[in-house]
Amino acid sequence: QLSNGSITDNIFPSAPAPLKQPFVIGVAGGTASGKTTVCDMIMSQLHDQRVVLVNQDSFYHSLSAEKLKKVHEYNFDHPDAFNTEVLLSCMEKLRSGQPVSIPSYDFKTHQSIESASPVNPADVIILEGILVLNDPQVRDLMNMKIFVDTDADVRLSRRIQRDTVQRGRNIQNVLEQYTKFVKPSFDEFIQPSMKYADIIIPRGGDNDVAIDLIVQHIRTKLCQHNLCKIYSNIFIISSTFQI
Ligand code: ADP
Ligand code: C5P
Repeated sequence: QLSNGSITDNIFPSAPAPLKQPFVIGVAGGTASGKTTVCDMIMSQLHDQRVVLVNQDSFYHSLSAEKLKKVHEYNFDHPDAFNTEVLLSCMEKLRSGQPVSIPSYDFKTHQSIESASPVNPADVIILEGILVLNDPQVRDLMNMKIFVDTDADVRLSRRIQRDTVQRGRNIQNVLEQYTKFVKPSFDEFIQPSMKYADIIIPRGGDNDVAIDLIVQHIRTKLCQHNLCKIYSNIFIISSTFQI
């Protein structure tokens, strides 16, 4: 028997330690850097596994009527714009194998909406959002940290396109918000969080090689976990015979 008291370690000394919890991946990066695209690519390659995606956007605070009147003075890119306490509690529950209800957020009304989405526990949990690498408590949940690094001009042009088409904004407002809040907060909170990343993906979803390597790593971790399950099953069977 080894110093940690594990009996299976004694019988299968080369067996890797089991992942007692799901494999948690954090995907951060500036606005419109391609975070969602990268997560979709990872998830589609892992279609044979139980994978769930949690979006930090779901945890935006709803704006009060008073704040709504001055929405153009509100900084949605500051860490305080998110309810990190609820995010942490949802992630902790998922990590311990419990289902959770993730709030839904409406970018047009700036409100968290009633219909929360049920999310079941999974073997891989991906947490995606501009500031997921900024908070140390959120970072501590992660087994793998990814930063999607896309040029600012590419991101801005995508953001204009997306916000005018999908989020009900006009170009002038998008540019004003970008200059006043999005870029300064990127410089102050998001870009500095890149130093915590294990992997930096240049060009986001265009980088097939990076996505393939990430998926390969996740598969290796899941495989080690499954091998351990097999080893412990063999142990249970062999000890039954001994009895
Ligand atoms: P994020 O989640 O970081 O905000 P998204 O993945 O949602 O970024 O991408 C933002 C916008 O840019 C979307 O409209 C998406 O279709 C587009 N987009 C993302 N990656 C690429 C790419 N590699 N080439 C072209 N358009 C892209
Ligand atoms: O999808 P993406 O990562 O770009 O989403 C984050 C962005 O959404 C932030 O840069 C923030 O400025 C923007 N946002 C917004 N209006 C809201 C909430 C977030 O423009 N009500």
